Amino acid sequence: MTTHVYWAPGRVNLIGEFTDLSGGPVLPVALDLGVRIEAAPADTIDLCSHELGGRARLAPDGTSLGHALEGWARYVEAVVTELALIGRPAVGLEGEITSTLPIGVGLSSSAALEVAVGLALCDVADFPLEPMQLAQVARQAEHRAVGVPCGILDQAASLLGRVGHATLLETASLAYEYVPLPEKIALVIIDSGISRRLESSGYGTRRDELARALGALDGLDPTGMTLSEIDKIAQANAIDPIARRRLHHVISDSERVYEVARLLRNPSAANLERLGEVFREGHESIRRDWEATTPETDLLVELAYENGAVAARQTGGGFGGAVVTLAWEKDAETYKNTLVDAYGGRADAVARAYICHASAGAGQL
Ligand code: GLA
Repeated sequence: MTTHVYWAPGRVNLIGEFTDLSGGPVLPVALDLGVRIEAAPADTIDLCSHELGGRARLAPDGTSLGHALEGWARYVEAVVTELALIGRPAVGLEGEITSTLPIGVGLSSSAALEVAVGLALCDVADFPLEPMQLAQVARQAEHRAVGVPCGILDQAASLLGRVGHATLLETASLAYEYVPLPEKIALVIIDSGISRRLESSGYGTRRDELARALGALDGLDPTGMTLSEIDKIAQANAIDPIARRRLHHVISDSERVYEVARLLRNPSAANLERLGEVFREGHESIRRDWEATTPETDLLVELAYENGAVAARQTGGGFGGAVVTLAWEKDAETYKNTLVDAYGGRADAVARAYICHASAGAGQL
């Protein structure tokens, strides 16, 4: 049997956090860290991973072979089931999964796994899907596997990535375009060492609170409204203060996505300075209005700016995880080490930093 290699990257979101929960824009980058599957067609589905530990064995249509699936294998099972629901022929797959993505850090290790598994399953069954179709399947699989009501950000970012670029994605229409990342600027991601699992974090509660605010808008689309317009409507419709703050966050962060895209397209010194301010405002908005930062990510953002970051903010699903920072490439290594040491001296957790590059989206290698 011929073996094929499938690859799906993790992602870091530059800005536009939780905006995909109300159809707003996001600005992710696909990373050079990801999930790799080396596999060949087979009678059953049998994927193992020495690295992640464990094995996913099931029938090609997703039915159980009598083994209870645990951990990452639940994502595999969910992707198989979702693909079966849309008519993928029941062809099996046998192989090995490896990953360079840290888990629980907010860099979408589960989305990368779902996408890589989806690519492999579609390929062996000769069942081609458009990237955004596969992203939808992978997102559904996340819901199915762990019950997390996530948006499309992570799965789309993994599929759409482009070398040297961020992807500006409208999560309502699914239209997207690429925004170049400035030369001489490195992407330095710092994991706070406070790991979080989306399914047990406040992610779902925040989503419900936002839905409450959107529901009270009576079908009005808040996109493009100013915050004072929102406040007027909120008052008229008696939207409670918590729901209003959640809405403030997604409206203001959507505006920040467009501003960051504009600044990145023209990275003059003044624009990079503004970029730093917008990232700071974005972090502050997650802290104050969305209430999903932690003392550790707040500290990391402060330390990043003190140590020369161009821009820094918490990224991903919140309640821990990582901050994304932009730093001068020539100083990146020193900056990274200084930051990790400074954090070690102030926090009860150990940070790990990754210098990453914007990479191509998922595909067969
Ligand atoms: C998680 C979810 C995404 C998105 C981000 C926050 O990564 O899976 O859909 O909501 O959080 O921007």
